[in-house]
Amino acid sequence: MAKKLLRTLAGEAVWPPPVWLMRQAGRYLPEYRAVRAQAGGFLELCTNPVLATEVSLQPLRRFGFDAAILFSDILVLPWALGQGLRYAEGEGPVLPPIRDAAGVRALQPAGLASAIAPILETVHRLRGEVGEAALIGFAGGPFTVACYMVQGSGSKEWDQVRRMAWSDPVLFAGLIDLLTEQTIVYLSAQIEAGAEAVMLFDSWAGVLAPSLFRAHVVEPTARIVAALRARHPGVPVIGFPRQAGTMLGEFVRATGVRGVGIDTAAELAMVARDLPAGVAMQGNLDPLALMAGGEAMTRESDAILAAMRGRAFIFNLGHGIVPQTPPEHVAALVARVRAA
Ligand code: CP3
Repeated sequence: MAKKLLRTLAGEAVWPPPVWLMRQAGRYLPEYRAVRAQAGGFLELCTNPVLATEVSLQPLRRFGFDAAILFSDILVLPWALGQGLRYAEGEGPVLPPIRDAAGVRALQPAGLASAIAPILETVHRLRGEVGEAALIGFAGGPFTVACYMVQGSGSKEWDQVRRMAWSDPVLFAGLIDLLTEQTIVYLSAQIEAGAEAVMLFDSWAGVLAPSLFRAHVVEPTARIVAALRARHPGVPVIGFPRQAGTMLGEFVRATGVRGVGIDTAAELAMVARDLPAGVAMQGNLDPLALMAGGEAMTRESDAILAAMRGRAFIFNLGHGIVPQTPPEHVAALVARVRAA
């Protein structure tokens, strides 16, 4: 019988639903912190197939999730295209910002294949180790990757990015176009290496006005889904246009994604009414409710399960797990979902 997560992405209302958590490998796990210290830097960990395989599997061993996600980062793509990247302690990723046509021209798609080779090796190793769990590959949505490339670091407002999108639309569209093409190459390679589903993390999609959301989130995602479907029919794509709000239905219908991540702010029953029944919804527990645990966590997760019963649904968070989360809370959550 096919894996639970893949049956769900094929439109089946599997119950109890499959469960995994965004950022399930990470600093909230002591065993992750130990391997991270051994690797030296974060990029060193991402590009070490032995260690990256180990940290991808740690949350499966501890909690028995229904999916393993490749351990890597969305910013591996700009790094593989030759843009400088470092992860500054306590402040997140830092890149030399791209602000003009020369910056876009300096990117080197020819270097991609050799840079991503160790990551594909991790995917290959993982596929032999995941057992009944499904193996998810991933990339950032082109817009969210462009956010970091143009802004040069994390941001709440992404003012430099939105400014470029409005005032130099040809330049910005060129960058999105390049990232869309390279994301197709990168995700195709992950599928060839063994990924059984792929997810596009478009974490900052919600900052865009509707016209820009159509141009820089919906259109690139539709292109990626169509290209992957042509090359690898049957491998589902999960979209995650975080905080898309009223644009979510259009995103799902226009892109052809098989699953969609739902952020914490969305009311699940209302979203469900607006989406085709065969598209799997994934989400949307508040990561801070998981961190808090106890009654808040059980009440919220029970409400999610009640709203989604009878539908193709994957239990997950509305955004990534936070490092302060006690691992016991994750174990309690998985038990609650399994008992649904
Ligand atoms: O377990 C998994 O989910 C797989 C691995 C994964 C990471 N990042 C590991 C990581 C995935 C799928 C991502 C996606 C990612 N990376 C996103 C999209 C999802 C989201 O959270 O919105 C974004 C925006 C990034 C960019 C990024 N990487 C930031 C902003 C940071 C710094 C913030 C932080 O949490 O430290 C990272 C670093 C990062 N990526 C870490 C991990 C485990 C922490 C690095 C460390 O261990 O020091």
